[in-house]
Amino acid sequence: MTGVGIDDISIYTPEYYYSLHDLVIAHGIDPNKYLVGIGQERMAVPPPDEDVVSMAANAVAPLLTRQLRDTVSTVIFATESGIDQSKSAGLFVHGLLGLNPHCRVVEFKQACYSATAGIQLAADLVRQRPMEKVLVIASDIARYERGSEGECTQGAGAVAMVISANPRLLELHPVSGLYSVDVMDFWRPNHRSTACVDGKLSIDVYLRSLAEAWADYRRKGGLPLGAVDKLCFHQPFTRMAKKAFAALSEAAGSEAAHLDESCYADSQIYGRAIGNTYSASLYIGLCSLLDRCGEDLGGRTIGLFSYGSGAVGEFFTATVKPQYRRHLRAEAHRAMLDSRRRLDGRTYAAWFYDAPSQAEDRVFPQESRGRFRLAAIEGQRRIYAAAS
Ligand code: HMG
Repeated sequence: MTGVGIDDISIYTPEYYYSLHDLVIAHGIDPNKYLVGIGQERMAVPPPDEDVVSMAANAVAPLLTRQLRDTVSTVIFATESGIDQSKSAGLFVHGLLGLNPHCRVVEFKQACYSATAGIQLAADLVRQRPMEKVLVIASDIARYERGSEGECTQGAGAVAMVISANPRLLELHPVSGLYSVDVMDFWRPNHRSTACVDGKLSIDVYLRSLAEAWADYRRKGGLPLGAVDKLCFHQPFTRMAKKAFAALSEAAGSEAAHLDESCYADSQIYGRAIGNTYSASLYIGLCSLLDRCGEDLGGRTIGLFSYGSGAVGEFFTATVKPQYRRHLRAEAHRAMLDSRRRLDGRTYAAWFYDAPSQAEDRVFPQESRGRFRLAAIEGQRRIYAAAS
């Protein structure tokens, strides 16, 4: 075995977006606050027949070979906008995609951090049994109160990754730095569809978690920042990466001298166009970096910082495999983003905020163009459908 890591990656985001140009008009503020101060241009908006399950299934579908379907040993579904308190969202995906029955399926939650817990657990499972392949999926809809400071950071999307031995894209290093603290910076009680947030505190805890996780990574023998070529941060909004880079540079001192803002710029292209996708956000950023970086990253080292409010932070590193470009889906991702449709304010509000309760039975008209969609709710059961 020559290492364990990400063998394949695919992202999905709904066909519709709301422009932050329109949101600044609705909020009556200076356009540069959202476009420059927050660093977002568009937010992905799911139509009523799309949820974390259908987005996840649509992210997984392109990487599902017959061999993967038959051999996947574990499915880890990371989300903080789950659709059931008992049944894992991963089981709906398991059924929709016809995965083999002899695998374990589980849902993970810890705000935006949970996919990283999934990846680290998956990597350890594969280190123990190198023949196994683990599917890690992260899928979320970021929703804040209408008119609140958080509204400009909303978004929706999913990422699917295969973790295996001898990965084709990225080999994970075994050292990682951790930091956990019990804090109320962002949370969502069960009765709410929108998050509660103390925005300024959340930024402070994010940056403190980064400094602490970095220090822990170095204490455990992790690489100096001088050996890192690119950085990828959890991105609730792209301007946050600028703050993160400044905090990490300060914590790492002279080790950061060779890095400037270009080391994370390509990781922001997808996030700026999609918005926050909570658990998926860091890995959509990673996919953006791999897909869109003009340089050949083969053999280069990427530092990744995962953060989930509440709060858990983890800093880890990975090496890009030499032939990684052959295995990316950059063109499909570009086509998906380029063909999205702009929503007017009324439709955005109706879909994001005014949708009737999902507790009642209903049939959803087809709005999604994904391969899988939520077709109906019948007798409290969610019914998904594959596009004909
Ligand atoms: P706010 O109070 O509306 O914004 O909320 P602000 O007044 O602080 O302004 C934001 C930035 O825009 C500032 O820049 C302003 O100077 C600048 P900064 O000082 O920060 O560098 N600005 C302008 N720039 C250019 N032209 C202008 C202009 N006006 C102002 N005209 C806040 C901002 C992020 C707090 C809010 O959007 C929010 O609460 N968002 C949700 C929480 C969040 O995203 N927190 C991030 C860290 S926590 C995290 O990442 C976890 C999370 O993903 C959840 C999870 O883990 O599950 C959120």
